[in-house]
Amino acid sequence: MIDFRSDTVTKPTEAMKEAMFHAPVGDDVFGEDPSINELESYTAKLFGKEAGLFCSSGTQTNQIAINVHVQPGGEVICHEESHIYKYEGGGIAKNSGASVRLLAGDRGRLEAKNIAQWINPSHDVHFPLTQLVSLEDTANRGGGAVYSFEQIQEIKVLCQSLGLPLHLDGARVCNALAVNQVDPAIYGAEFDSISICLSKGLGAPVGSVLLGSKAFIHKARRVRKVMGGGMRQAGMIAAGGLFALQHHRSRLIEDHKHAQQLEETFHRQTWVKSVLAVQTNIVVVSLNDPTKRDVILEQFKSFGILGMAFGPGMLRFVTHLDISPEQVAFTCEKIALIRP
Ligand SMILES: Cc1ncc(COP(=O)(O)O)c(C=O)c1O
Repeated sequence: MIDFRSDTVTKPTEAMKEAMFHAPVGDDVFGEDPSINELESYTAKLFGKEAGLFCSSGTQTNQIAINVHVQPGGEVICHEESHIYKYEGGGIAKNSGASVRLLAGDRGRLEAKNIAQWINPSHDVHFPLTQLVSLEDTANRGGGAVYSFEQIQEIKVLCQSLGLPLHLDGARVCNALAVNQVDPAIYGAEFDSISICLSKGLGAPVGSVLLGSKAFIHKARRVRKVMGGGMRQAGMIAAGGLFALQHHRSRLIEDHKHAQQLEETFHRQTWVKSVLAVQTNIVVVSLNDPTKRDVILEQFKSFGILGMAFGPGMLRFVTHLDISPEQVAFTCEKIALIRP
């Protein structure tokens, strides 16, 4: 099967497995796993942050960050389609007892002027205290849309003027940086905390890293322990993540080219209503007849191709490390043969 359902489906390469096999390990809850320590400091340095924390998933890094930034009863501002709200099992309420202010915005992205209107006046006891702004870059529901660096800077200036922390759900931040070409350390300086997934486009089997100041990560380490996320000799999986960061960032642009090839082919089909303009590795297709979504996915499956339903009348195809140029060419041929 050629699996376009998600960039989370990649398998570790032989070279990555070799790095994992030979990784030195220790007890990470004692801070003694050399491979985890190396991954945390490497990632922190790359993004210009003081410290890092290796966690099991992007959901965990996001939820820990929210828990550190926000007090029960406080409010998080995020996009209405953001992963932290929509796909983390109600974790903001459950883990942190916080409320959420959901904002609209073009393709999963927020704008400073809109955020500014929704910051609750702290002197008025009726309102929950706004305590965090969270962005997602790239924005998954926005079809892998990328913030411009200027948009982020404007939001940072606003947050700073109000003393509000700014969190980044950077599950696919390396895809974003491959497009806007901003130095990760300069980009990272705009955020108080960053969650980076190693197991998406970068191709590691497991793990995410949370970044921030030393004081922030100290608190985050406690929250990770409370959530049962303190791992022991997890250096073997951290080594896969470090390998991914060191060897797979520069190739993300190939995935983006593959996504553009799919986009162009989808555009030409009569059964396709529209395709979100591809910026990174996610292709979102809207169908002329929404009722045909599952039939179309079945036809793809009969050709050995997997895509994903992405809401009513919508499909998602994600390119990644395990999709070759030949497989993209094959898929483009088959797209033209789909007859819903
Ligand atoms: C934008 C975004 N944030 C966070 C996550 C959570 O990552 P994980 O699946 O590792 O919990 C995902 C996963 O797909 C995602 O797409």
